[in-house]
Amino acid sequence: MAISFIVNGKPQNVDVSPGMPLLWVLRDTLGFTGTKFGCGMALCGACTVHINGEATRSCVTPVSSVAGKKVTTIEGLSADRSHPVQQAWIELEVPQCGYCQSGQIMSAAALLAKKAQPSDAEIDDAMTGNICRCGTYQRIRKAVHRAAQLHARSAKPGAPVKAEANGSTRAAELAPGALSPAGMLVGGAK
Ligand code: FES
Ligand code: FES
Repeated sequence: MAISFIVNGKPQNVDVSPGMPLLWVLRDTLGFTGTKFGCGMALCGACTVHINGEATRSCVTPVSSVAGKKVTTIEGLSADRSHPVQQAWIELEVPQCGYCQSGQIMSAAALLAKKAQPSDAEIDDAMTGNICRCGTYQRIRKAVHRAAQLHARSAKPGAPVKAEANGSTRAAELAPGALSPAGMLVGGAK
């Protein structure tokens, strides 16, 4: 069955079973391997993408349900790691193994699109379904706050973007692929 939808701003037309999970269509049919498989049961968040702006578990989303909708994957968040969430994640060196991180970032980006300055409780609530076996939760919470700060400053042209207290300038230093787990931030690893 032919199903049409938008992925990262481009129209896609796939001929697959309507019940096929969106995750498999993204990864296997369309080649967007930045979105990860973890549990397949909406329990871990590794497969999180945006559907019409809402953070959604693609492993339990039949592809037929996204017909005519806009899907954004980690590859579509920005072309050059310039999204505030990606910048904050790199600056604070959030990833450890990196496997869960594209899902974490997509959940964080969806939260910040709705709530520009979320509280700790709001962050915990939005991120609660994203499991990290490496236990990076403290850095994730910090990075969400940092992303909110970066976004607010970018909205005011000319405002200096000061690094965190550790003086890190890694976001500016990193070349594509320079840090392996960071490859997960842009869908660079399979
Ligand atoms: S793979 Fe979808 S929530 Fe775990
Ligand atoms: S960084 Fe390893 S699972 Fe989250």
